[in-house]
Amino acid sequence: MEAVEKYLSDNAGRNIEELKQLLRIPSISADSKYASSMTEAAEFVRKQLADSGCNAEIVETAGHPIVFGSWTNKPGAPTALVYGHYDVQPPDPLDEWVTPPFEPDVRDGNIYARGATDDKGQMYTHIKSVEAWLKTVGELPVNVKFIIEGEEEVGSDNLDKFLEENKEKCACDIAVVSDTSQYAPGIPAITYGLRGIMCCEVTLHGPNQDLHSGVFGGSITNPVNALATLIGKLIDEQGNIQIPGFYDDVIPLTDEERAAFAALPFKEQDYMKSLGVSATHGEAGYTTLERRWGRPTCDVNGIIGGYTGEGPKTIVPAKATAKISCRLVPNQTEPKIVESLEKFLREQCPPGLKLEFNHWHGCPAVVCDLNSPYMSAAKSAIEKGFGTAPVLIREGGSIPVVGTFKEILGVDTLLLGWGQNTDNLHSPNEKFSLEAFQQGTRSSAWLWNELGGQ
Ligand code: BES
Ligand code: MN
Repeated sequence: MEAVEKYLSDNAGRNIEELKQLLRIPSISADSKYASSMTEAAEFVRKQLADSGCNAEIVETAGHPIVFGSWTNKPGAPTALVYGHYDVQPPDPLDEWVTPPFEPDVRDGNIYARGATDDKGQMYTHIKSVEAWLKTVGELPVNVKFIIEGEEEVGSDNLDKFLEENKEKCACDIAVVSDTSQYAPGIPAITYGLRGIMCCEVTLHGPNQDLHSGVFGGSITNPVNALATLIGKLIDEQGNIQIPGFYDDVIPLTDEERAAFAALPFKEQDYMKSLGVSATHGEAGYTTLERRWGRPTCDVNGIIGGYTGEGPKTIVPAKATAKISCRLVPNQTEPKIVESLEKFLREQCPPGLKLEFNHWHGCPAVVCDLNSPYMSAAKSAIEKGFGTAPVLIREGGSIPVVGTFKEILGVDTLLLGWGQNTDNLHSPNEKFSLEAFQQGTRSSAWLWNELGGQ
C-alpha cells in the first residue's frame, strides 16, 4: 500500500489536470444538442480505463453509450463492480455561475464545474486508484469491473436492459458507487439507504387558445388558477400528503434508526442558514433528517403556464403544466404511487378542463445490509483514506441503478460518497473539494486492499 499511496500523491497534480479535461466536455444527457459531447465523454472515460491497465470498451445503447471496463486477473478473489456516470445535469441558470460551467476553475481548494462532484470527480477516484495499483504493484487484490453510464440524470432507462442482457459479464460480489455525499466536512459517511423516486407531469387544458381575460374571464375555468388550486391540495398544513393510499406501504423508521439519526451532529439553525430559509417545514412528528432520509415527499418541480414575458398581458391561458416528483421510501412501489396520484388529480380536477397526465421515470428506495463483510471493508478503507472513521447515514436522493443491481445481479451496493451536499450538485457553481478527491482516491485504493482481505 505504501507504493500505491506514494503513486497517488506523486500523481495528484496530473490527476486533477485529467479531471479538468473530462469536466470541459459538456455531457448534458437531457439535451439532444449535446449528443456528440456524450460520445466524446464516453470515449475519454474508456481511454482512461484502458490507460490505467483495464480492458475497456464502449457499449452502444438506444440512448447514450455505456463504458464497460474490467480487470479480472485475480481468480478466487471477490469482484467489485464500480458504477458511475459521465453525464451531467443542465447547467442553467448560466448567469449565476462565477466561472462558466464547462471551464473548470480551481479556487479555495475546490474545483468548480458542472459534474465536478456529480459524478465525474467522484467516479474518477476509482479509475485513478486502480491505475495506482496496476502501475505500482502490477495487480489488484480483487477483480474490478466498471460500468460508467451516460443516462443517470435522465433515469438510466437503457442501463437496465444492458444489465439484463449482460448478467454474466457484470457478475460481481458487491457494487461500489461514489455518487452520494459525506455527512459533513470532516465527517465521511457510508450511505446505506436511498429514497426512490417517481417523476410525472400534469397538464390542464382549458379553452382552445389564450383568450382576452376581460372579454371571457370569469366565465370559464382558468387552467393556471385551477392548477395552483390542484397542487395546493397535494399536501396539508401539517405536511401530510393527501393522496389516498400514499402512505399505505411505507415501512416506518425503527426506533434504532431514529436514535442513530438523532445521534448525528446536526444543527437546525446552521441548516436553515446554509439554505437561506427562516424555517424548516415538513411532515409533522419527524425531525429534519428523518424527513429527508426516511419519509416520502411530493414536490412540484416546476410550473409552466400563461404569459411569463415582461410587463402585463391580460389573458385566460389555454393550458398550464406542473412537473411533479415524489421521493419514495422502502416498500412503496412506483406504479402504485403513479396510479394513486393520477387518480387523485383526476378526481380533484374542476369541471371544464381536460387533464393530461404523463409519467416519466422512477425507481424504488433501497436499504443495504449494514452487517456484511463488504461494509466492514469499506469502513476500514475510509478510515485509512480519510484518517477518520465514517458515520452510517441514509440519503434522500435517488440512484436508480442501486435497486437494479439488487434485482438483476443480486448484490448490495457500497455507497461511498466523497462529496458534500453543499457542493451545489444540480445547482450553479457545482464544486468538488480537491482534498476530498485525494481522500476518496486513497480510500478507493484501500478498499481494493480491504476487500481482497489482505
Ligand atoms: N448523485 C445524485 C443522487 C444523490 C445525491 C444521492 C446526493 C445522495 C446524495 C444523482 O446523480 C441524482 O441526482 N439522481 C437523481 C435521480 C433521478 C434523476 C432518477 C435524483 O436523485 O434526483
Ligand atoms: Mn449523480
